[in-house]
Amino acid sequence: MKKRFPKVRMRRLRTDKFTRNLVREQSLSCYDLIQPLFVMDGKDKKQKIKSMPSMTRMSIDKIIKEVKILKNLGIQAVALFPNITDKNKSNDGKESYNPNGLIQNCINEIKNKVDGIGVISDVALDPYTSHGQDGIRNKKGKILNDETIDVLAKQAISHASAGADIVAPSDMMDGRVKRIRQELEKEGFKDTKILSYAAKYSSNFYGPFRDAVGSNKNLGKSNKDTYQMDFANKKESFREIELDINEGADIIMIKPAMPYLDIISAINNEFNVPIFVYQVSGEYSMIKAACQKKWLNEKKIVLESLTAMKRAGANAIFTYYAKEAAKWLS
Ligand code: PBG
Repeated sequence: MKKRFPKVRMRRLRTDKFTRNLVREQSLSCYDLIQPLFVMDGKDKKQKIKSMPSMTRMSIDKIIKEVKILKNLGIQAVALFPNITDKNKSNDGKESYNPNGLIQNCINEIKNKVDGIGVISDVALDPYTSHGQDGIRNKKGKILNDETIDVLAKQAISHASAGADIVAPSDMMDGRVKRIRQELEKEGFKDTKILSYAAKYSSNFYGPFRDAVGSNKNLGKSNKDTYQMDFANKKESFREIELDINEGADIIMIKPAMPYLDIISAINNEFNVPIFVYQVSGEYSMIKAACQKKWLNEKKIVLESLTAMKRAGANAIFTYYAKEAAKWLS
């Protein structure tokens, strides 16, 4: 090392801004950003989400306005999550495939009223079950895999029929990508993409989201450890991803994002498939809270975190900061 100096000075390329701009390896743009949105019943409604400051649940008319704004900011897609009323929740989550359900109507409205922005719909039962789990539960509380994927397939078809561009199973049941792909093909939805939450960890960072969709109180003290992955595991994520690709996934999701950059990087080195990552609610709320206290600079912290996800290998990022970040980047 000694001999190389002063011929090699790493600081040389950092001397001025134009050189730094030219040698930069990663860049972040609005093309990388997907905005998750929480949908609720009613008209002209907007509700604050306590554990996610600045985020709201919106009725469909408000969602349409918001999607137009997002589109004009250059956001490429929105991801929809419902907050449905308790009376529509059941053990089997059958409201999830109601052709006139909240999400189906929302997808339909967006597709009819806004051009040029992708709609990603979440395929999972947790917002629809009276117990807050992503699957159907037997009397003993066990989450039944094969019974659940029957319902997920119906849910996915109802989203595709409503016009969803991408259906995104986020439930972690086995074999659901294959089932959904078969049904989509059978029903003639040849271009509907499947974004599979392939490496989804049983993470404590999802807490604020569960408030947002109203599944927290139903879930109570139970957890999702029998289907979501153990956060101590890395090799297991390779198997999950390989399976989902073979079953017909077009894009795979890794989630959460920032505490899991090692997984993103490893998967990126190993597989030739687009990778989306999810900066989840807990990551959002952590940053938000620190910034509200003025302990961190929000713009700088957010852009740094999102760029780090790209550096690790993400093609696109679900982030509650999508709208703000798109403004900062323009
Ligand atoms: C559930 C689902 C979850 C998230 C997206 N889809 C939560 C969970 O698994 O309990 C979390 C997103 C976030 O925390 O922002 N199907």
